[in-house]
Amino acid sequence: MKLTFIGTGYVGLVSGVCFSEIGNDVTCLDKDLGKIERLNRGEVPIYEPGLQELIAKNRELGRLRFSGELTPAVERAEAIFLCVGTPPLPNGEANLAFIEQAAQEIALAMNGYKIIATKSTVPVGTNDRIRDIVSKLTPHPFDVVSIPEFLREGSAIADTLHPDRIIIGTDSPEAAEKIAELHRPLTDRIMVTDVRSAEMIKYASNAFLATKISFINEIANICEKVGADVTDVAKGMGHDRRIGPSFLQAGIGYGGSCFPKDTNALIQIAGNVDYEFKLLKSVVEVNQGQRFNVMTKLRHSLGELGGKRIGVWGLAFKPDTDDVRESPALDIIGALLAEGAEVQAYDPVATANFKAIFDQADEVEWRDDPIEAARDCDALCLLTDWAEFKSLSLTEVQAAMRQNILIDGRNVYTSEQVDEADLRYYSVGRPHVGSLSQFEADPIAFYGR
Ligand code: UDX
Repeated sequence: MKLTFIGTGYVGLVSGVCFSEIGNDVTCLDKDLGKIERLNRGEVPIYEPGLQELIAKNRELGRLRFSGELTPAVERAEAIFLCVGTPPLPNGEANLAFIEQAAQEIALAMNGYKIIATKSTVPVGTNDRIRDIVSKLTPHPFDVVSIPEFLREGSAIADTLHPDRIIIGTDSPEAAEKIAELHRPLTDRIMVTDVRSAEMIKYASNAFLATKISFINEIANICEKVGADVTDVAKGMGHDRRIGPSFLQAGIGYGGSCFPKDTNALIQIAGNVDYEFKLLKSVVEVNQGQRFNVMTKLRHSLGELGGKRIGVWGLAFKPDTDDVRESPALDIIGALLAEGAEVQAYDPVATANFKAIFDQADEVEWRDDPIEAARDCDALCLLTDWAEFKSLSLTEVQAAMRQNILIDGRNVYTSEQVDEADLRYYSVGRPHVGSLSQFEADPIAFYGR
Protein backbone atom coordinates (compact mmCIF):
# COMPACT_ATOMS: atom_id res chain seq x y z
CA MET A 1 0.00 0.00 0.00
CA LYS A 2 1.08 3.60 -0.45
CA LEU A 3 1.21 5.13 3.03
CA THR A 4 2.03 8.54 4.48
CA PHE A 5 2.90 9.08 8.14
CA ILE A 6 2.53 12.62 9.45
CA GLY A 7 4.94 13.32 12.31
CA THR A 8 8.35 11.66 12.69
CA GLY A 9 8.28 11.32 16.48
CA TYR A 10 8.60 7.91 18.10
CA VAL A 11 5.32 6.53 16.78
CA GLY A 12 5.43 8.00 13.26
CA LEU A 13 9.04 7.18 12.58
CA VAL A 14 9.02 3.62 13.93
CA SER A 15 5.65 2.78 12.34
CA GLY A 16 6.63 4.27 8.98
CA VAL A 17 9.91 2.40 8.94
CA CYS A 18 8.31 -0.90 9.97
CA PHE A 19 5.57 -0.66 7.33
CA SER A 20 8.23 -0.05 4.67
CA GLU A 21 10.10 -3.08 6.03
CA ILE A 22 7.09 -5.31 5.27
CA GLY A 23 6.95 -4.06 1.68
CA ASN A 24 4.79 -0.92 1.66
CA ASP A 25 5.68 2.33 -0.06
CA VAL A 26 6.09 4.85 2.78
CA THR A 27 6.56 8.60 3.05
CA CYS A 28 7.32 10.04 6.50
CA LEU A 29 6.48 13.71 6.77
CA ASP A 30 7.52 16.35 9.27
CA LYS A 31 7.22 20.13 9.46
CA ASP A 32 10.63 20.29 11.10
CA LEU A 33 12.71 20.53 7.94
CA GLY A 34 15.95 20.28 9.92
CA LYS A 35 14.81 16.88 11.18
CA ILE A 36 13.89 15.76 7.64
CA GLU A 37 17.30 16.89 6.41
CA ARG A 38 19.02 14.93 9.18
CA LEU A 39 16.93 11.82 8.44
CA ASN A 40 17.82 12.17 4.75
CA ARG A 41 21.48 12.24 5.75
CA GLY A 42 20.96 8.96 7.62
CA GLU A 43 20.92 10.51 11.10
CA VAL A 44 18.24 9.13 13.45
CA PRO A 45 16.78 11.61 15.95
CA ILE A 46 15.94 9.02 18.63
CA TYR A 47 17.88 6.22 20.27
CA GLU A 48 16.04 3.04 19.39
CA PRO A 49 17.95 -0.23 18.93
CA GLY A 50 17.86 -1.44 15.29
CA LEU A 51 16.11 1.62 13.85
CA GLN A 52 19.07 3.15 12.04
CA GLU A 53 19.79 -0.09 10.16
CA LEU A 54 16.14 -0.53 9.10
CA ILE A 55 15.97 3.06 7.86
CA ALA A 56 19.13 2.66 5.78
CA LYS A 57 17.95 -0.64 4.30
CA ASN A 58 14.49 0.56 3.29
CA ARG A 59 15.67 3.88 1.90
CA GLU A 60 18.12 2.00 -0.26
CA LEU A 61 15.32 -0.26 -1.50
CA GLY A 62 13.34 2.88 -2.41
CA ARG A 63 10.40 1.98 -0.13
CA LEU A 64 10.97 4.73 2.42
CA ARG A 65 11.44 8.47 2.04
CA PHE A 66 11.40 11.51 4.32
CA SER A 67 9.83 14.74 3.21
CA GLY A 68 8.64 18.14 4.40
CA GLU A 69 6.13 18.54 1.54
CA LEU A 70 2.65 17.56 2.58
CA THR A 71 0.65 17.92 -0.66
CA PRO A 72 2.48 15.35 -2.82
CA ALA A 73 2.71 12.96 0.15
CA VAL A 74 -1.08 13.15 0.67
CA GLU A 75 -1.80 12.91 -3.05
CA ARG A 76 0.19 9.69 -3.49
CA ALA A 77 -1.11 7.98 -0.32
CA GLU A 78 -4.02 5.55 -0.04
CA ALA A 79 -3.90 5.88 3.75
CA ILE A 80 -2.53 8.74 5.84
CA PHE A 81 -1.53 8.08 9.46
CA LEU A 82 -1.65 10.94 11.94
CA CYS A 83 1.26 10.49 14.33
CA VAL A 84 1.70 14.04 15.62
CA GLY A 85 2.23 14.84 19.28
CA THR A 86 -0.61 15.37 21.76
CA PRO A 87 1.38 16.95 24.61
CA PRO A 88 -0.42 17.60 27.90
CA LEU A 89 -2.01 20.99 28.60
CA PRO A 90 -1.49 22.39 32.12
CA ASN A 91 -4.76 20.74 33.28
CA GLY A 92 -3.67 17.28 32.03
CA GLU A 93 -5.88 17.30 28.94
CA ALA A 94 -4.28 16.41 25.60
CA ASN A 95 -3.43 19.36 23.37
CA LEU A 96 -5.07 18.61 20.03
CA ALA A 97 -3.76 21.64 18.12
CA PHE A 98 -1.30 19.58 16.03
CA ILE A 99 -3.95 16.96 15.21
CA GLU A 100 -6.47 19.57 14.11
CA GLN A 101 -3.95 21.42 12.01
CA ALA A 102 -2.82 18.22 10.31
CA ALA A 103 -6.45 17.28 9.59
CA GLN A 104 -7.00 20.65 7.90
CA GLU A 105 -3.84 20.33 5.84
CA ILE A 106 -4.73 16.81 4.72
CA ALA A 107 -8.23 17.94 3.71
CA LEU A 108 -6.84 20.77 1.59
CA ALA A 109 -4.34 18.47 -0.14
CA MET A 110 -6.71 15.57 -0.92
CA ASN A 111 -7.13 14.52 -4.57
CA GLY A 112 -9.50 11.54 -4.12
CA TYR A 113 -10.60 8.89 -1.59
CA LYS A 114 -8.28 8.56 1.43
CA ILE A 115 -8.24 6.66 4.69
CA ILE A 116 -7.29 9.05 7.49
CA ALA A 117 -6.02 6.95 10.38
CA THR A 118 -5.05 8.30 13.82
CA LYS A 119 -2.19 6.66 15.68
CA SER A 120 -1.64 9.55 18.11
CA THR A 121 -3.28 8.98 21.49
CA VAL A 122 -6.38 11.19 21.44
CA PRO A 123 -9.34 11.70 23.76
CA VAL A 124 -12.56 9.92 22.98
CA GLY A 125 -14.41 11.85 20.29
CA THR A 126 -11.33 13.27 18.55
CA ASN A 127 -11.68 11.15 15.43
CA ASP A 128 -15.26 12.36 15.07
CA ARG A 129 -13.88 15.89 15.25
CA ILE A 130 -11.30 15.05 12.58
CA ARG A 131 -14.15 13.81 10.37
CA ASP A 132 -15.98 17.13 10.85
CA ILE A 133 -12.91 19.22 10.08
CA VAL A 134 -12.01 17.28 6.93
CA SER A 135 -15.54 17.05 5.57
CA LYS A 136 -15.93 20.83 5.73
CA LEU A 137 -12.78 21.41 3.69
CA THR A 138 -12.84 18.80 0.92
CA PRO A 139 -15.36 17.45 -1.61
CA HIS A 140 -13.45 14.13 -1.77
CA PRO A 141 -14.66 10.99 0.00
CA PHE A 142 -12.70 9.64 2.99
CA ASP A 143 -12.97 7.37 6.01
CA VAL A 144 -11.66 7.98 9.49
CA VAL A 145 -9.98 5.15 11.40
CA SER A 146 -8.63 5.08 14.94
CA ILE A 147 -5.67 2.72 15.19
CA PRO A 148 -4.10 3.15 18.61
CA GLU A 149 -0.39 2.48 19.01
CA PHE A 150 0.96 0.25 21.77
CA LEU A 151 4.69 0.25 21.04
CA ARG A 152 7.18 0.64 23.87
CA GLU A 153 10.32 2.69 23.63
CA GLY A 154 13.41 0.51 23.53
CA SER A 155 11.54 -2.40 21.93
CA ALA A 156 9.56 -0.31 19.46
CA ILE A 157 10.54 -2.25 16.33
CA ALA A 158 9.78 -5.69 17.78
CA ASP A 159 6.51 -4.35 19.24
CA THR A 160 5.47 -2.94 15.86
CA LEU A 161 6.46 -6.00 13.82
CA HIS A 162 5.03 -8.48 16.37
CA PRO A 163 2.13 -6.72 18.11
CA ASP A 164 -0.04 -8.42 20.73
CA ARG A 165 -3.08 -7.09 18.89
CA ILE A 166 -4.22 -4.51 16.38
CA ILE A 167 -7.27 -2.41 17.22
CA ILE A 168 -9.13 -0.84 14.31
CA GLY A 169 -11.87 1.64 15.15
CA THR A 170 -14.07 2.76 12.26
CA ASP A 171 -17.65 2.81 10.98
CA SER A 172 -16.52 1.85 7.48
CA PRO A 173 -16.26 -1.92 6.78
CA GLU A 174 -14.23 -1.18 3.61
CA ALA A 175 -11.66 0.96 5.45
CA ALA A 176 -11.51 -1.64 8.26
CA GLU A 177 -10.74 -4.37 5.72
CA LYS A 178 -8.02 -2.32 4.01
CA ILE A 179 -6.30 -1.48 7.29
CA ALA A 180 -6.70 -5.08 8.50
CA GLU A 181 -5.08 -6.31 5.28
CA LEU A 182 -2.16 -3.95 5.85
CA HIS A 183 -1.61 -5.44 9.32
CA ARG A 184 -2.22 -9.13 8.52
CA PRO A 185 1.46 -9.84 7.85
CA LEU A 186 2.10 -8.74 11.46
CA THR A 187 -0.62 -10.62 13.36
CA ASP A 188 -3.98 -12.30 13.01
CA ARG A 189 -5.17 -10.84 16.32
CA ILE A 190 -7.02 -7.95 14.71
CA MET A 191 -10.09 -6.50 16.39
CA VAL A 192 -12.49 -4.15 14.65
CA THR A 193 -14.65 -1.88 16.77
CA ASP A 194 -16.20 1.56 16.67
CA VAL A 195 -14.06 4.70 16.73
CA ARG A 196 -14.80 5.74 20.30
CA SER A 197 -14.14 2.30 21.77
CA ALA A 198 -10.80 2.15 19.95
CA GLU A 199 -9.84 5.54 21.38
CA MET A 200 -10.80 4.34 24.85
CA ILE A 201 -8.90 1.05 24.50
CA LYS A 202 -5.62 2.97 24.31
CA TYR A 203 -6.25 5.01 27.46
CA ALA A 204 -7.72 2.07 29.36
CA SER A 205 -4.74 -0.15 28.48
CA ASN A 206 -2.14 2.37 29.62
CA ALA A 207 -4.13 3.23 32.75
CA PHE A 208 -4.43 -0.46 33.62
CA LEU A 209 -0.70 -1.08 33.19
CA ALA A 210 0.05 1.99 35.32
CA THR A 211 -2.35 0.59 37.92
CA LYS A 212 -0.45 -2.72 38.01
CA ILE A 213 2.80 -0.82 38.62
CA SER A 214 1.41 1.37 41.41
CA PHE A 215 -0.29 -1.66 42.94
CA ILE A 216 2.91 -3.70 43.14
CA ASN A 217 4.80 -0.64 44.42
CA GLU A 218 2.35 -0.34 47.31
CA ILE A 219 2.71 -4.07 47.99
CA ALA A 220 6.50 -3.50 47.97
CA ASN A 221 6.19 -0.75 50.55
CA ILE A 222 4.17 -3.09 52.78
CA CYS A 223 6.68 -5.93 52.17
CA GLU A 224 9.38 -3.67 53.57
CA LYS A 225 7.39 -3.28 56.77
CA VAL A 226 6.47 -6.93 57.23
CA GLY A 227 9.74 -8.47 56.04
CA ALA A 228 8.47 -10.09 52.81
CA ASP A 229 10.14 -10.03 49.39
CA VAL A 230 8.09 -8.31 46.68
CA THR A 231 9.87 -10.07 43.81
CA ASP A 232 8.69 -13.44 45.12
CA VAL A 233 5.26 -12.01 45.88
CA ALA A 234 4.97 -10.74 42.28
CA LYS A 235 6.19 -14.08 40.93
CA GLY A 236 3.66 -15.94 43.02
CA MET A 237 0.87 -13.63 41.91
CA GLY A 238 1.94 -13.79 38.27
CA HIS A 239 1.52 -17.57 38.07
CA ASP A 240 -2.21 -16.92 38.29
CA ARG A 241 -3.11 -16.56 34.62
CA ARG A 242 -5.82 -14.07 35.48
CA ILE A 243 -3.15 -11.76 36.88
CA GLY A 244 -0.14 -12.53 34.65
CA PRO A 245 3.51 -11.88 35.51
CA SER A 246 4.18 -8.66 33.54
CA PHE A 247 4.19 -5.09 34.85
CA LEU A 248 4.60 -6.28 38.41
CA GLN A 249 8.17 -5.12 38.78
CA ALA A 250 8.40 -2.93 41.84
CA GLY A 251 10.68 0.09 41.80
CA ILE A 252 10.58 3.86 41.85
CA GLY A 253 7.57 4.02 39.56
CA TYR A 254 6.78 4.71 35.94
CA GLY A 255 7.86 7.68 33.86
CA GLY A 256 8.04 8.31 30.13
CA SER A 257 5.97 10.03 27.53
CA CYS A 258 2.88 7.83 27.82
CA PHE A 259 1.84 6.60 31.25
CA PRO A 260 2.05 9.95 33.09
CA LYS A 261 0.37 11.83 30.23
CA ASP A 262 -2.31 9.26 29.47
CA THR A 263 -3.32 8.61 33.08
CA ASN A 264 -3.78 12.33 33.67
CA ALA A 265 -5.64 12.73 30.39
CA LEU A 266 -8.03 9.89 31.27
CA ILE A 267 -8.72 11.48 34.66
CA GLN A 268 -9.61 14.66 32.73
CA ILE A 269 -11.72 12.80 30.15
CA ALA A 270 -13.71 11.27 33.00
CA GLY A 271 -13.91 14.63 34.80
CA ASN A 272 -15.31 16.26 31.67
CA VAL A 273 -18.32 13.93 31.88
CA ASP A 274 -18.65 14.46 35.65
CA TYR A 275 -17.04 11.18 36.62
CA GLU A 276 -14.35 11.13 39.25
CA PHE A 277 -11.86 8.36 38.41
CA LYS A 278 -10.79 7.82 42.03
CA LEU A 279 -8.78 4.67 41.44
CA LEU A 280 -6.65 6.24 38.71
CA LYS A 281 -6.09 9.38 40.78
CA SER A 282 -4.60 7.16 43.48
CA VAL A 283 -2.44 5.35 40.93
CA VAL A 284 -0.93 8.69 39.90
CA GLU A 285 -0.46 9.80 43.51
CA VAL A 286 1.24 6.54 44.50
CA ASN A 287 3.53 6.80 41.50
CA GLN A 288 4.58 10.33 42.41
CA GLY A 289 5.33 9.35 46.01
CA GLN A 290 7.22 6.22 45.02
CA ARG A 291 10.15 8.14 43.52
CA PHE A 292 10.84 9.71 46.89
CA ASN A 293 11.44 6.27 48.45
CA VAL A 294 15.00 6.82 47.34
CA MET A 295 15.18 10.02 49.38
CA THR A 296 13.69 8.35 52.46
CA LYS A 297 16.27 5.58 52.30
CA LEU A 298 19.10 8.04 51.75
CA ARG A 299 18.05 10.14 54.76
CA HIS A 300 17.67 7.03 56.87
CA SER A 301 21.11 5.71 56.00
CA LEU A 302 23.05 8.99 55.85
CA GLY A 303 21.10 11.42 58.03
CA GLU A 304 21.36 15.01 56.77
CA LEU A 305 22.09 15.04 53.04
CA GLY A 306 23.63 18.55 53.01
CA GLY A 307 27.29 18.32 51.93
CA LYS A 308 27.04 14.58 51.19
CA ARG A 309 28.21 13.35 47.80
CA ILE A 310 25.60 11.23 46.01
CA GLY A 311 26.20 9.26 42.82
CA VAL A 312 23.27 8.77 40.45
CA TRP A 313 23.19 5.92 37.93
CA GLY A 314 20.56 6.29 35.23
CA LEU A 315 18.71 9.33 33.94
CA ALA A 316 16.45 7.77 31.27
CA PHE A 317 12.93 6.84 32.41
CA LYS A 318 13.76 3.22 31.56
CA PRO A 319 16.62 1.34 29.89
CA ASP A 320 17.32 1.23 26.14
CA THR A 321 16.04 4.71 25.51
CA ASP A 322 17.48 8.22 25.71
CA ASP A 323 14.04 9.56 26.66
CA VAL A 324 14.01 11.43 29.97
CA ARG A 325 10.45 12.75 29.89
CA GLU A 326 8.85 12.40 33.35
CA SER A 327 11.87 10.37 34.44
CA PRO A 328 12.05 9.83 38.23
CA ALA A 329 15.65 11.10 38.00
CA LEU A 330 14.34 14.64 37.38
CA ASP A 331 12.53 14.75 40.73
CA ILE A 332 15.16 12.81 42.64
CA ILE A 333 18.14 14.89 41.51
CA GLY A 334 16.04 18.04 42.10
CA ALA A 335 15.31 16.88 45.67
CA LEU A 336 18.97 15.98 46.32
CA LEU A 337 20.14 19.42 45.21
CA ALA A 338 17.39 21.07 47.27
CA GLU A 339 18.75 19.29 50.38
CA GLY A 340 22.27 20.52 49.63
CA ALA A 341 23.78 17.25 48.40
CA GLU A 342 26.56 17.21 45.81
CA VAL A 343 25.37 15.13 42.86
CA GLN A 344 27.44 13.31 40.24
CA ALA A 345 25.49 11.47 37.56
CA TYR A 346 25.94 9.01 34.74
CA ASP A 347 23.72 7.53 32.04
CA PRO A 348 24.94 5.55 29.03
CA VAL A 349 22.86 7.54 26.48
CA ALA A 350 20.45 10.02 28.08
CA THR A 351 22.75 12.65 29.62
CA ALA A 352 22.43 15.19 26.77
CA ASN A 353 18.62 15.00 26.80
CA PHE A 354 18.55 15.29 30.59
CA LYS A 355 20.78 18.37 30.61
CA ALA A 356 18.54 19.97 27.98
CA ILE A 357 15.40 19.82 30.15
CA PHE A 358 16.75 19.90 33.72
CA ASP A 359 16.80 23.48 35.05
CA GLN A 360 19.66 22.86 37.47
CA ALA A 361 21.93 21.02 35.02
CA ASP A 362 24.84 23.33 35.92
CA GLU A 363 24.70 22.18 39.55
CA VAL A 364 25.25 18.52 38.68
CA GLU A 365 28.66 16.99 37.96
CA TRP A 366 28.31 14.82 34.87
CA ARG A 367 30.35 11.63 34.55
CA ASP A 368 31.16 9.48 31.48
CA ASP A 369 31.58 6.23 33.32
CA PRO A 370 29.64 4.41 36.10
CA ILE A 371 32.68 3.91 38.31
CA GLU A 372 33.53 7.60 38.05
CA ALA A 373 29.96 8.41 39.07
CA ALA A 374 30.48 6.23 42.19
CA ARG A 375 33.89 7.70 43.01
CA ASP A 376 34.13 9.27 46.51
CA CYS A 377 30.37 9.04 47.01
CA ASP A 378 28.70 8.64 50.37
CA ALA A 379 25.85 6.83 48.64
CA LEU A 380 25.04 5.62 45.17
CA CYS A 381 21.48 5.55 43.75
CA LEU A 382 20.52 3.34 40.81
CA LEU A 383 17.49 4.90 39.09
CA THR A 384 17.37 3.16 35.68
CA ASP A 385 17.87 -0.58 35.21
CA TRP A 386 20.36 -0.41 32.34
CA ALA A 387 21.90 -3.88 31.68
CA GLU A 388 25.36 -2.36 32.07
CA PHE A 389 24.74 -1.72 35.79
CA LYS A 390 23.62 -5.31 36.41
CA SER A 391 26.90 -6.75 35.21
CA LEU A 392 29.28 -4.44 37.11
CA SER A 393 31.41 -5.85 39.93
CA LEU A 394 30.04 -4.31 43.12
CA THR A 395 33.42 -4.86 44.78
CA GLU A 396 34.95 -2.50 42.23
CA VAL A 397 32.09 -0.06 42.69
CA GLN A 398 32.46 -0.06 46.47
CA ALA A 399 36.23 0.39 46.21
CA ALA A 400 35.60 3.69 44.41
CA MET A 401 33.11 4.94 47.05
CA ARG A 402 33.70 6.83 50.30
CA GLN A 403 30.86 5.08 52.19
CA ASN A 404 29.17 1.80 51.33
CA ILE A 405 25.51 2.72 50.77
CA LEU A 406 23.80 1.52 47.60
CA ILE A 407 20.16 2.47 47.00
CA ASP A 408 18.79 0.32 44.19
CA GLY A 409 15.57 1.88 42.89
CA ARG A 410 15.02 -0.92 40.37
CA ASN A 411 15.79 -4.15 42.29
CA VAL A 412 18.65 -5.01 39.99
CA TYR A 413 21.04 -6.92 42.25
CA THR A 414 20.92 -10.35 43.88
CA SER A 415 21.98 -11.14 47.46
CA GLU A 416 25.11 -12.87 46.07
CA GLN A 417 26.19 -9.77 44.15
CA VAL A 418 25.56 -7.54 47.13
CA ASP A 419 27.47 -9.85 49.46
CA GLU A 420 30.49 -10.04 47.17
CA ALA A 421 31.07 -6.49 48.33
CA ASP A 422 30.31 -5.19 51.79
CA LEU A 423 27.41 -2.92 51.00
CA ARG A 424 24.56 -1.46 52.98
CA TYR A 425 22.04 -2.21 50.30
CA TYR A 426 18.50 -0.85 50.09
CA SER A 427 16.18 -1.95 47.27
CA VAL A 428 12.40 -1.70 46.92
CA GLY A 429 10.30 -4.20 48.85
CA ARG A 430 13.20 -6.64 49.39
CA PRO A 431 14.36 -5.92 52.94
CA HIS A 432 16.41 -9.12 53.34
CA VAL A 433 18.61 -8.86 50.23
CA GLY A 434 22.28 -8.81 51.22
CA SER A 435 23.52 -10.22 54.54
CA LEU A 436 23.41 -6.77 56.17
CA SER A 437 19.61 -7.20 56.28
CA GLN A 438 17.94 -3.83 56.52
CA PHE A 439 14.85 -5.39 58.03
CA GLU A 440 16.72 -7.08 60.88
CA ALA A 441 18.89 -4.02 61.45
CA ASP A 442 16.27 -1.38 61.99
CA PRO A 443 12.75 -2.29 60.85
CA ILE A 444 10.83 0.59 62.38
CA ALA A 445 13.06 3.53 61.53
CA PHE A 446 13.82 2.16 58.10
CA TYR A 447 10.22 1.88 57.06
CA GLY A 448 8.88 5.21 58.14
CA ARG A 449 7.96 7.36 55.14
C1 UDX B 1 4.16 2.40 27.47
C2 UDX B 1 3.26 1.21 27.08
O1 UDX B 1 3.86 -0.02 27.54
C3 UDX B 1 3.02 1.17 25.58
O2 UDX B 1 2.10 0.13 25.26
C4 UDX B 1 2.45 2.52 25.15
O3 UDX B 1 2.29 2.54 23.73
C5 UDX B 1 3.36 3.66 25.60
O4 UDX B 1 3.58 3.58 27.00
P1 UDX B 1 6.78 2.95 27.38
O5 UDX B 1 6.42 4.22 28.06
O6 UDX B 1 7.69 2.99 26.21
O7 UDX B 1 5.45 2.20 26.87
O8 UDX B 1 7.48 2.00 28.46
P2 UDX B 1 7.14 0.72 29.35
O9 UDX B 1 8.14 -0.33 29.03
O10 UDX B 1 5.73 0.35 29.27
O11 UDX B 1 7.50 1.28 30.80
C6 UDX B 1 6.86 2.44 31.33
C7 UDX B 1 7.39 2.77 32.69
O12 UDX B 1 6.94 1.85 33.65
C8 UDX B 1 8.92 2.79 32.81
O13 UDX B 1 9.30 3.92 33.60
C9 UDX B 1 9.24 1.51 33.54
O14 UDX B 1 10.43 1.62 34.30
C10 UDX B 1 8.02 1.36 34.42
N1 UDX B 1 7.71 -0.03 34.79
C11 UDX B 1 7.31 -0.93 33.84
C12 UDX B 1 7.78 -0.43 36.12
O15 UDX B 1 8.12 0.37 37.00
N2 UDX B 1 7.44 -1.72 36.44
C13 UDX B 1 7.03 -2.64 35.52
O16 UDX B 1 6.76 -3.77 35.91
C14 UDX B 1 6.98 -2.22 34.17
